[in-house]
Amino acid sequence: MTTLSCGVLSGPICCPAPSSARGVRGAAGSSGASKRSGGRPGNGEREPSSFLSASSASASASDSSTSSSSSGSDITASCSSSGVFRGRFGARASPSALSGAAGRVGRGWTGATFGISRAICPLRCMAPTPGTGAAFTNGRPAAGSSQVDLTSVLSVDTRYKTETHAAASAGEQVVEETQVLFEANEEFRKNALVSSTEKYEEMYKQSVEDPDTFWSEIASQFHWEKKWDVTDGKVHTENFDVRKGPIKVEWFKGGKTNICYNALDRHVEAGRANDVAMFWEGNEPGYDSSVTFGNLLDLVSQVSNYLRSVGVKKGDAVVIYMPMLVELPVAMLACARIGAIHSVVFAGFSADSLAQRILDCKPKVVLTANGVMRGTKFINLKTIVDDALKQAKQEGYTVETSVVFANEVATKKEETAWVEGRDIWWQDVIPSQSTKSEVEWVDAEDPLFLLYTSGSTGKPKGVLHSTGGYMVYTATTFKHAFDYRPGEVYWCTADCGWITGHSYLTYGPLLNGATVVNFEGVPTYPDAGRCWEIVDKYNVNIFYTAPTAIRALMREGDKPVKKHSRKSLRVLGSVGEPINPAAWKWYYEVVGDSRCPISDTWWQTETGGFMITPMPGGWPLKPGSATFPFFGVQPAIVDENGKELHGECSGYLCVKASWPSTFRTLFGDHPRYETTYFAPFKGFYFSGDGCHRDKDGYYWLTGRVDDVINVSGHRIGSAEVESALVHHPLCAEAAVVGYDHEVKGQGIYAFVTLVEGVEYSDKLRKDLIAKVRSQIGPFAAPDIIHWAPGLPKTRSGKIMRRILRKIAANQIDELGDVSTLADPGVVEQLIELRDK
Ligand code: WTA
Repeated sequence: MTTLSCGVLSGPICCPAPSSARGVRGAAGSSGASKRSGGRPGNGEREPSSFLSASSASASASDSSTSSSSSGSDITASCSSSGVFRGRFGARASPSALSGAAGRVGRGWTGATFGISRAICPLRCMAPTPGTGAAFTNGRPAAGSSQVDLTSVLSVDTRYKTETHAAASAGEQVVEETQVLFEANEEFRKNALVSSTEKYEEMYKQSVEDPDTFWSEIASQFHWEKKWDVTDGKVHTENFDVRKGPIKVEWFKGGKTNICYNALDRHVEAGRANDVAMFWEGNEPGYDSSVTFGNLLDLVSQVSNYLRSVGVKKGDAVVIYMPMLVELPVAMLACARIGAIHSVVFAGFSADSLAQRILDCKPKVVLTANGVMRGTKFINLKTIVDDALKQAKQEGYTVETSVVFANEVATKKEETAWVEGRDIWWQDVIPSQSTKSEVEWVDAEDPLFLLYTSGSTGKPKGVLHSTGGYMVYTATTFKHAFDYRPGEVYWCTADCGWITGHSYLTYGPLLNGATVVNFEGVPTYPDAGRCWEIVDKYNVNIFYTAPTAIRALMREGDKPVKKHSRKSLRVLGSVGEPINPAAWKWYYEVVGDSRCPISDTWWQTETGGFMITPMPGGWPLKPGSATFPFFGVQPAIVDENGKELHGECSGYLCVKASWPSTFRTLFGDHPRYETTYFAPFKGFYFSGDGCHRDKDGYYWLTGRVDDVINVSGHRIGSAEVESALVHHPLCAEAAVVGYDHEVKGQGIYAFVTLVEGVEYSDKLRKDLIAKVRSQIGPFAAPDIIHWAPGLPKTRSGKIMRRILRKIAANQIDELGDVSTLADPGVVEQLIELRDK
């Protein structure tokens, strides 16, 4: 059992050892952690453009289950002859075409190509020919460009390999494109919020040409105690160009509002006090509860009153380290109600990581629980918090109050360690508070929360979001990307410890008055059918999860899914990493019974909300593509010189202008904000992701191009892992890279050099992994430790990660030029020690 407590899963699921390394996403060139070479990395940003040099971004080679081609050509024939292909979430789908198209996993579906008549492609697609009446604007089809027959476009070999723009990386990226279009049926489209490409184009055009009017109209639907300032018709100001001065973004400044009021009071005042706001499903089946909007408001008010009573004021930080109880979103909303800044730390992080975050944001109060069961595993959260608070104290910061929720199902109060004077039971102080709590009206630009995320150094980044723009944007993206209809039940499997739990389990849905499901457990406990049992239990209409969960469940076969009806499902969602076509297909076909569109949403902690996402009903989907930009989002794919590329291309994914939920800074470190995100490509926000745009303007995310590894949708900085490894007294040096992992998307592959004279041993391997678990958290544990007598370095001492990635991926014959290494002999040694 490997703990996989990830962005969208809240607990451990079974992961196999990687069957084979299949290439690695990401590219970087930087030094690993070394005691010899001057200690830990992370004492300062790696050079901002290091990922631009000597980098290779090799993505996954073929997944054997997706690369068959013979049945693909059969399908082509059958579909071409029928002329029209729609997925079965289109009533006009041809079932025979579909069953042909979506044959069993691993039998050629991915390779299928279809002739698609122009009649069914609402997107106006033209090959981009800059300067000849450009058909693309920022890679999206421009309104007014003429429609072309997609047959020729789509009947090319679909899983093709494309060299990235020569300048984009020294390596190559493989884009797994599945040029199969799935379109929602007419019934679905008729009722969809965005029911056609024309409607999208019209709205998109307005959103980028006149963002102030576009977003003001939407913002007006919320409650503002005082309306925002309008200067020269503008409701936002921004500078995205470091050459023009400090980076700054503001939306709706001067406006006074409160996100908690908009998420709860507004609905209660509209007569919805008795509607269910949240179904809570415990780890143990049968252990559940539901809270109405009225209940939720009462609870939030009580917690906010308590926080006030212990001196928490507007602008103060509160750290929340809790499992997925109702009390977790309640605590977040309570902070928001009084203008305090919440900083949720995923309750899978270790004491060291928690201490690091506490020391950074200096909270007045920590809210936690004594323990939690995840599957069959008990996690003693209280001892982790105690340890973190002790560490913080030793380093000079004392947290005065620690409120502990007694989670009686997981552990007993009597068995909980206690620090008198600091620790207080939640149940002793919250229920006695008044259920009336005055709202603190805050400026739209006042901070709402801090959320730490991994970067390319050992020090996590405190991503700071402000209130007004975040509120407007998360609510709007939720509504459109899931085509949410009032009254629907929505389940997001994310933990509130990650951005998805903030924006799409708490704020986005509640702002829309949606009923959300909050699940404490793991998808495979007590069995692999748990998710679908929950879907049936609450009649879930919209289900949002991560590819890693989909792949883990897919391995268990169709039976656990088919045992349950799932007929309530209407829309499916995916987030966290690129979804491979085989998983997409299984999700679509088996989970969604070929009826539900899949919204593959690309976004980040930094963006706060969806950036590139389907709007089901708006246009056809291509498995593996996040499709098109959301309203107001202006993506740009650039080459290594920061030159924007047009039309079909591959390169670095940037954004040209602000959107309302742009993060405003990195807490306490605005220079790092500018250096990391705005300095690499002048005039743009740089996402850290690679991206391909196809002939039809669809966006395909290809993974991180910096030193961040995406494990089960978790961002883990390779430098953080390296730093943890060299903390072990016997580890002299470490270099960590990602490699393709069957379930997790990417796994962690660590090359470790031991101090002189120390022997390799299995015990040492375990100790090193334990070190990472205790320094970061179990989810960051390396999957593979590769003993390295030496690391491949240039003469200037820089580790050539490109070579390490190839070795990790077992692509020994693709090592490329090693002659520039100080000692080319180390490569052979490393190859020899692979799998030892
Ligand atoms: C990756 C999670 C491809 C990407 C919301 C991004 C994705 C990082 C997708 C952000 C997607 C997220 N397709 N890649 N649909 N969604 N990513 O900050 O590399 O935890 O930069 O936010 O996850 O991770 P974060």
